[in-house]
Amino acid sequence: MIRVPRHIIAPVSEIPPGGRLIVELDNRSIGVFNVGGRFYAIRNTCPHAGGRLCEGRVSGLVTSERPGEYRYRRVGEIIRCPWHGWEFDLTTGQSWFDPSRTRVRSYATDVTAGSELVPSGGEDNRDMNEAGYRPGPYRAERYEVEVDRDYVVVHT
Ligand code: FES
Repeated sequence: MIRVPRHIIAPVSEIPPGGRLIVELDNRSIGVFNVGGRFYAIRNTCPHAGGRLCEGRVSGLVTSERPGEYRYRRVGEIIRCPWHGWEFDLTTGQSWFDPSRTRVRSYATDVTAGSELVPSGGEDNRDMNEAGYRPGPYRAERYEVEVDRDYVVVHT
């Protein structure tokens, strides 16, 4: 099984619905978007000519059956490159200009409980024992600490 590197991006609360966060992962600029509570990550490099795609305007799809009527769908799922206006699907990376040949790299994301991201503390004294320390007679009062927030994680 091939393990894909995962990167803890931010607490979910720091990328609200409609929000985005642009981060550097493995020397790549990647935009992480919250689209209606679901998270998507795409490369911040437009495949057309290298524009900073993730800084573009986010919108949806407008369709019309007849004059004077229109429907606005897929709200928040389409991003327009700020350089020349090519549009990409945030959920797949698919281009909607020249779609058969152009796609921006997208990455899997998930939301993980903070408690699953940090090892629990506890009674593991191996490091101390290996360093030659032995437990003394006193013990300080201690309290349980847990991480209860959810975090956005990107797999590259
Ligand atoms: S660089 Fe993005 S549309 Fe041209």
